[in-house]
Amino acid sequence: MTVFKSASSNPSSQNNIEERLQIQRLLEPSLVISTNAGNDVIKGLTQRPKTLPPRYFYDDRGSELFEQICELPEYYLTRTETKILQICASEIAEITGACEIVELGSGSSTKTRILLDAYYKQGLPLHYLPIDVSAGMLESSALSLLADYPSLQVYALAGTYELALSEIEPKELPNRMICFIGSTLGNLNPREYDVFLSQVKAALQVGEYFLLGVDLQKPKHILEAAYNDNQGVTAAFNLNMLEHLNWRFQGNFDTRQFEHWAFYNELEHQIEMHLKSKRSQTVELRTLKFNIDFEAGETIHTEISRKFDLNRIQQELKAKGLVPQKVWTDENQLFGLLLCQLQD
Ligand code: AVJ
Repeated sequence: MTVFKSASSNPSSQNNIEERLQIQRLLEPSLVISTNAGNDVIKGLTQRPKTLPPRYFYDDRGSELFEQICELPEYYLTRTETKILQICASEIAEITGACEIVELGSGSSTKTRILLDAYYKQGLPLHYLPIDVSAGMLESSALSLLADYPSLQVYALAGTYELALSEIEPKELPNRMICFIGSTLGNLNPREYDVFLSQVKAALQVGEYFLLGVDLQKPKHILEAAYNDNQGVTAAFNLNMLEHLNWRFQGNFDTRQFEHWAFYNELEHQIEMHLKSKRSQTVELRTLKFNIDFEAGETIHTEISRKFDLNRIQQELKAKGLVPQKVWTDENQLFGLLLCQLQD
């Protein structure tokens, strides 16, 4: 485990950025993605149908492509959640008071700025603890936030959120809020969802907050357009997972021999994303000493993106002791934001 401070040539002109930033790598960079590096890949690819864990989307290139997805006309999620946050951020700050903002899967931290602005306007101290598997994204977004918020303290954790939640330091401010926005919860299947909520619960003390953003159920055509954009950015994002595996495990996936396939499963209320092999082929992942055969048309299941019912999820959170205090949605009820408090 290494803790380092950001390098800065001229600290005084940069508002002592390096004194306000700590980045902690919970694992060595090459292992950041998982403690059992590669076992999850072998396990997924030997299943039938084949699967891969969605966190392999997010190498630096994948994080960049995801940022581009957020700008797409068809991808309403980010835009809608941003609008909701702009309306309710001051209310959130009023409810929580002085509070550390922990963010799971922080990415570029764009939406976080809305929260930071609200806390700042109310004269509250700004403590931000972003957690992300992409150390590159973590550092660049932290530096940009620190330049814009002169009183901000950032304590960043590079690693999986499971690991980070179990390692998080005792808080310095009177309260803490764990934010899991952007509907990343939708990536978890019902069992993983249950485990995750238990981990959040274990990381919180009674009276602390959990801010959750979830995509809501809606007609199939809107959802399928959001995951099959015209410009092909989502396709590139999906295929990049194979490039990521090539880099990480010295693989020889040829992305031209696979295609993006995404559809809405109405029974399960989830988008399913797959990569389909265009022909029969064998791929090698050298550092894993692993060869894998594909038949023509065979798929790898790369992601589910569950769509929630706002009433049902409130009941589920409440049953976990994460009691919704306030719930917001947009005028078209595309997206939901829930501020929950751990009660005993
Ligand atoms: C970041 C998991 C919320 O499920 O909509 C975007 C990822 N996948 N386009 C989502 C994603 C394809 C996204 N989440």
